[in-house]
Amino acid sequence: MKVNGTSYTTIWYDSDNEQVSIIDQTQLPHRFDIITLDTLSDFCHAISSMQVRGAPLIGVTAAYGLAIALRKNPSTQSENKAASQLLATRPTAVNLQWAIRRMREAISTASIEFRAERALLEASNIFDEDIAHCSAIGDHGNKLLKDAYETKTDGSQLNILTHCNAGWLATVDWGTALAPIYKAHKLGIPIHVWVDETRPRNQGASLTAWELQQHGINHTVIADNTGGHLMQNGLVDCCIVGSDRTTAAGDVCNKIGTYLKALAAFDNNIPFYVALPSSTIDWSINDGIKHIPIEQRDSREVTHITGLNKHGQLTEVQLTGNSPAANYAFDVTPARYVSALITEIGIFSADRRDLQKLKQLLS
Ligand code: MRU
Repeated sequence: MKVNGTSYTTIWYDSDNEQVSIIDQTQLPHRFDIITLDTLSDFCHAISSMQVRGAPLIGVTAAYGLAIALRKNPSTQSENKAASQLLATRPTAVNLQWAIRRMREAISTASIEFRAERALLEASNIFDEDIAHCSAIGDHGNKLLKDAYETKTDGSQLNILTHCNAGWLATVDWGTALAPIYKAHKLGIPIHVWVDETRPRNQGASLTAWELQQHGINHTVIADNTGGHLMQNGLVDCCIVGSDRTTAAGDVCNKIGTYLKALAAFDNNIPFYVALPSSTIDWSINDGIKHIPIEQRDSREVTHITGLNKHGQLTEVQLTGNSPAANYAFDVTPARYVSALITEIGIFSADRRDLQKLKQLLS
């Protein structure tokens, strides 16, 4: 997608310099910084500090991290160490485990002198697939948006509410929840996006709003508590969010606060769509509330906030007194509140039977 008119992906491998670069998302929207990741600890830090974030991008970054670690040392010991360090960075998004498992399977048959090369090839396959899958999610989801727009009788723009950032910054390119919006916008459907700020890290206010602005898509940032009011007053036509892990029965784990939006959408009879690549499905579990580990991050992300001061410098300020704070990063939306799952294969119901059909199509 575009940054000031130039095409970028969120991560890329430069084969001339044999280096992996990323957009440092902790600096957006105020600074557009590109950094290179050279060592395994650079990759682990990039994921845990959220220089890269979003389930699909975490998976792709981990894949490159493993490949770079094997280039330095292709032994099994080095592979085990790299895999366990990368897996420990963030627990909820299943794409991380999925990517590491896939990388390890791919190199399992390569002889020691070709392991690093094979690993790099697999990381680049995962990178390419992520782009293709997100683009396909965009095409499938676009049909839902087109139908929703055509059924509007007042000719007004389509109002979509999204939570967190499930745009191109959360993937390699296109995004998941925002991919249908980008495709619909290209086709001329008039769209307005309500962007939940998404406390505490404000991925909506800092990342989703920035992406949409870069692409000329009409949007408004709202405080996280606003969505219910908008829905009650007919100002939301549908919600679209991403997923960090979806169970085999269709429960969706996503950024904290997603569940409350789903409840409000359900109460107001508004479609609540979840867009995800199939790599985000954890086929080994059914009950998301019981079985998905919820990341708890540093309470400082709740008690403090960073922004630009009047001199244009990034500054952190303290919001709270000395009260303890808790920082649960994700919640689970039970399948019954999900209107449909938009995947790269097509649109599925959030239930075990329909997801089994998807599984068969994947095999
Ligand atoms: O903590 P983050 O910023 O990694 O959380 C991101 C989200 O919750 C996204 O909605 C999810 O990863 C889907 S991304 C396409």
